[in-house]
Amino acid sequence: MKEVKSLEEFIKGIPKAELHLHIEGTFEPELMFEIAKRNHVKIKYSTVEEIKSAYNFSNLQDFLDIYYAGAQVLLTEQDFYDLTWAYLEKIHAENVIHTEIFFDPQTHTGRGIKFSTVINGIHRALEDGRTKLGINSKLIMCFLRHLDEESAFKTLENAIEFKKWIDGVGLDSSELGHPPSKFQQVFEQARRQGFLTVAHAGEEGPAEYIWEALNLLKISRIDHGNNALNDEKLLKELVNKKMPLTICPLSNLKLQVVKDLKEHPLKKLMDHGILATINSDDPAYFGGYMVENYIAISKALNLSKEDIYILAKNSFIASFLEEEVKKDMIERVDRYYKENK
Ligand code: HPA
Ligand code: ZN
Repeated sequence: MKEVKSLEEFIKGIPKAELHLHIEGTFEPELMFEIAKRNHVKIKYSTVEEIKSAYNFSNLQDFLDIYYAGAQVLLTEQDFYDLTWAYLEKIHAENVIHTEIFFDPQTHTGRGIKFSTVINGIHRALEDGRTKLGINSKLIMCFLRHLDEESAFKTLENAIEFKKWIDGVGLDSSELGHPPSKFQQVFEQARRQGFLTVAHAGEEGPAEYIWEALNLLKISRIDHGNNALNDEKLLKELVNKKMPLTICPLSNLKLQVVKDLKEHPLKKLMDHGILATINSDDPAYFGGYMVENYIAISKALNLSKEDIYILAKNSFIASFLEEEVKKDMIERVDRYYKENK
C-alpha cells in the first residue's frame, strides 16, 4: 500500500524554486563568528545566543540596521563563496532545485570591497552548486533604494563586465519614502542592456508603489506585494498580467508586516487568482529557510496539499528559467504531486 506522507514530509519532498532570497540574509551567526575571527574583525556580540536575541525587529528598518552591520564582516572572495555555499547546502537538503539569488553590491562597495570580489565569490559557489549539488540558479543584482539613483547607475556600470553572470536587477532596502519612481531611469538603462527587472514593493509601502513598479520599472515580478490586497483595480491588473508575487511569510511575521500568520494575505491573494510563491527572504534572520516557511504558512492558513502543489508549481512558472528547463522542472512537480497527494 502507498504510504501517505504527512504535510511536513510532503512539503520537504516537493521540488521547489526560491525566487526571493538575499544572500547577505543567509549569514548564520556561527559562520559570522568564524569569518569575523579569520578576518580579525570585531563584532558587537560574543555568543550565538546574544546575536539571536538581538534579532527582535519591530519593522523593516530595525532589521536592515542589523543586517547591514552583519555584512561588514565579509571582506574576501572566499567569504562570499562560503556564505553562498552554506546557503546552497541548506536548500539542497530541502529539495530546492532552483534559486534566484539577490545580492546587494552597494553594501560592500560602499566600504571599499571591490565589485569583482563580491561577484566572483558568489558566482564560483553557484557554479559548484550546479555541478556538485545539481542546484540551478540565477543571480539578481539589487540597488539599495535608500541611496540615490546616481549610485545605482555606478553599480550598473560595475555590473557590465559581469553581465553574463547576472540575469536581472532588483530594488531593495528601506521602502517608505523611496518609491520606485526614484529609480525609473536606471531601470530603463538596465532593461536596454538586457536585464530583467524586479522590485520590492508593497511590503511596508502602499499599493501605489506596486503600480509604479509595474508601470515605470516594467518589472517581471513583484517582491512581497502584500499591500496589493488594498486595491481592487491593482489586483485585477496583476491577475490579468499573470504578474507573480514573491511572498515571504516568516519575514512578514518577524518584521510585523502581519501581526499573526493567521492574518497573512497569501490565501486571499491566491483565491483572487494571483500567481503567488513562497520564499524565505533573509532566512538566517527570520527563523527559517524554504521548508520552514512553507510549513509555518500552511499550518497558519490550513493549506492543503493541493495548495502547496500550486505554490511549488508557481515558483517555477514565475522563475527566469529557460522554457525547456522550466517545463522539465514543472513536470517533476506534477509527477511528485500525482505520486504523493
Ligand atoms: N525588504 C527590503 N529590503 C531588504 C529585505 C526586505 O525584505 N531583505 C533584505 N533587504
Ligand atoms: Zn527581500
